[in-house]
Amino acid sequence: MKLETLNDLLVKNMIDLYDAEKQITKALPKMIKTATSEDLRAGFEEHLEQTQNHIIRLEDAFKELGMKAKGKKSEGMKALIDEGKLLMSEKGMEDSVMDAALIMAAQHVEHYEIAAYGTACAHAEALGLDRVFELLNETLEEEEETDEKLSDLAETAVNEAAALESEESEEEE
Ligand SMILES: [Fe+2]
Repeated sequence: MKLETLNDLLVKNMIDLYDAEKQITKALPKMIKTATSEDLRAGFEEHLEQTQNHIIRLEDAFKELGMKAKGKKSEGMKALIDEGKLLMSEKGMEDSVMDAALIMAAQHVEHYEIAAYGTACAHAEALGLDRVFELLNETLEEEEETDEKLSDLAETAVNEAAALESEESEEEE
């Protein structure tokens, strides 16, 4: 597609996000299976449901713009998800360390989304596309909440447990 106007940039961003969200719905089930912390698993499950809504909101936003929803392979999201898959294939991590790794991977994804939705919201607002802004902003808020929950979980439980594991394995060596 030709990129000339701010509207074109907004649409390009939405096309990327539409594919990115779909990639996330495919990646989350394995992360749910791999997580050991009950809270982390529940968090991922909740985010999977939210992500399905994010896809619907993007479809609604495309409709507002008089377009059919479409996606184009988000190479940025693919790289982050591939990195997460690589982490999950590691064999030597204790459960809590793997949970810390899953949070790390998930936060990379969330920050990508926060950056993309943040920019999309700013562009929609500048263009006076109020309904598109509302839809994208609702999702942005959920992504930010998810990111905060992941930080809380890491800081209150997972990191400490993972750090203890690391101390223990050093003592064993
Ligand atoms: Fe999302």
